[in-house]
Amino acid sequence: MFDSGVGGLSVLRDFQRLAPHERVIYFADTAFFPYGPRPAAEVRKRSFAITQRLISAGCKLIVVACNTASAAAIADLRDAFPVPFVGMVPGLKPATQQSRSGRVAILATPGTLDGDLYARVVDEFGRGVSIENVPGHGLAELVERGQSGTEAARASLRRILGPAIAAGADTVVLGCTHYHFLADDVAAEFPGVATVETSEAVARRAVAVLAEQGIEAPPGRPGALDLIVSGDREAFKAVMAHLGFAPHPAEVVP
Ligand code: DGL
Repeated sequence: MFDSGVGGLSVLRDFQRLAPHERVIYFADTAFFPYGPRPAAEVRKRSFAITQRLISAGCKLIVVACNTASAAAIADLRDAFPVPFVGMVPGLKPATQQSRSGRVAILATPGTLDGDLYARVVDEFGRGVSIENVPGHGLAELVERGQSGTEAARASLRRILGPAIAAGADTVVLGCTHYHFLADDVAAEFPGVATVETSEAVARRAVAVLAEQGIEAPPGRPGALDLIVSGDREAFKAVMAHLGFAPHPAEVVP
């Protein structure tokens, strides 16, 4: 499983709950964080290097726990490597089903909003609703610094999301895994506005793919979590602790 940083931990948490016997390697590419503003070619290059590393370590399935990396690379990864991949896109479909005002805001990185993958989702599920694409400039950085749940986070959300909410959006899609950790801030700042995110759906899809391919871990085997952090490991673990993960949850692979 990989992401540019802590965002994909939201998927990891659901996956470990649903598939406790699996051994997971989580790769946090913090040396190249953030992915959102980078050109797609650069994010694709990182996604290939990380996938190569994870497959060398024996991984049988790769979860791209990052909307931006999925946008930049998922099709090419599937063509290039012989393992199944599970990627993610902003949850437009559930948002359109639950919005009462018919107006939804999609909060995601520029890389995700500009990608073909998201364009296809809009084509397929965007009919009959008004969609406001909102680039979350600086929000993933805030989460990666451990500032979710702070006044700084609320102030940024007010500035970035305020206009879409004022224009009538009643549903906000958290279309970047980092934004999962801002759900409480969005709820506090904009009472009555619903949030939608796909971490659990992605974790469920990964479990389903393991079963379809007959590659699940045997029941009864203890699960495990290894971390690979391309940047500062101690800083990463400190933010994990801030986000409610056990202080030393994992063996750290150098
Ligand atoms: N977590 C990533 C995503 O889901 C983006 C964060 C970043 O900009 O690196 O899109």
